[in-house]
Amino acid sequence: MPPEPDRSRSGLGDAEDHRAAGRVVVIGSLNVDSTSYVDAFPAPGETILARGFEVALGGKGANQAVAAHVAGARVEFVACLGDDASGAFACDTLERLGLSIAAVRRIPNASTGVAQITVAESGENTIIVTSGANLALTPVLIDAERERIAAATVVLTQGELAVATIEHLALVSNELGARFVLNLAPPAPVAAEALGVADPLVLNEHEARAVGIGTDAPGSTNLDEWRALAASAVGAVARSVVVTLGAAGAVAADAGGSWAAPAPRVTAVDTTGAGDGFTGTLAAFLAEGRPLPEALDLAVAAGALAVQARGTVDSYAPRVEVLAAAGVADRASAS
Ligand code: RIB
Repeated sequence: MPPEPDRSRSGLGDAEDHRAAGRVVVIGSLNVDSTSYVDAFPAPGETILARGFEVALGGKGANQAVAAHVAGARVEFVACLGDDASGAFACDTLERLGLSIAAVRRIPNASTGVAQITVAESGENTIIVTSGANLALTPVLIDAERERIAAATVVLTQGELAVATIEHLALVSNELGARFVLNLAPPAPVAAEALGVADPLVLNEHEARAVGIGTDAPGSTNLDEWRALAASAVGAVARSVVVTLGAAGAVAADAGGSWAAPAPRVTAVDTTGAGDGFTGTLAAFLAEGRPLPEALDLAVAAGALAVQARGTVDSYAPRVEVLAAAGVADRASAS
């Protein structure tokens, strides 16, 4: 197996040159991930020995914020952490990766969110999240961030926040004219009105079925069939829709058309956080004015690069590598 790329010091490449390109405000979750690397997942009741163990920054919000930053967006990250050692570790890591912690709140007597992750030799994972301080990110805090939301090009959140918070953020973003991108991972019972302003609503195939897109679609449904399903949900479920399909690639649809982006064939080492790499990259390139099909190609390239290295934020490739992998020319603004 070829050696994994070392991105642990975040290697931004020329991303700094593009900071003015798009302002992405991520209002989302943060966890500290405890990951065990095993040959195969244990069966219920079974005890197995891991081959390795890592503690690292995680949470879909933090991962997506880092991915958007590495892709070249100007990122502001709003999150709630505990006042514990994990919260201190998370703040240090965010700063090491070049993100501001100005909008990260430490909640007294709360525990930082944690995720217990198992990664098998196949690269697949299982994840259990204990939300902790993430649930302190309430609609009241969304109102406290109205100025930041109004100044955003894109506002991005995930299904790891409380449903009432996601719904309020959707409506406030829409009211203030920011493009609202919702990654409904994990699936959550968000009201149709809030889903309806998502542009795009980003889902994997299981999450898509949970919101009624391709509910009866068998596992064998191909990329082009998913493209048609995404197209049928435009206007009915969300303003635009993106469905990720793992190693097959992803599809997108908006009022102007629908597109399929096959993923390159790669050897997956660790799929953890690859969907977040995809979503953060998508948000970053949408924020700099790239059309949806181009942002889709770039996000698929970013996801394919991320699965080739271990971990979440340390697996995200810099902008220059993502552009090269997607065969897309660089420019600070495509609008
Ligand atoms: O998508 C991967 C992430 O899911 C992990 O970092 C974990 O914290 C959970 O939020």
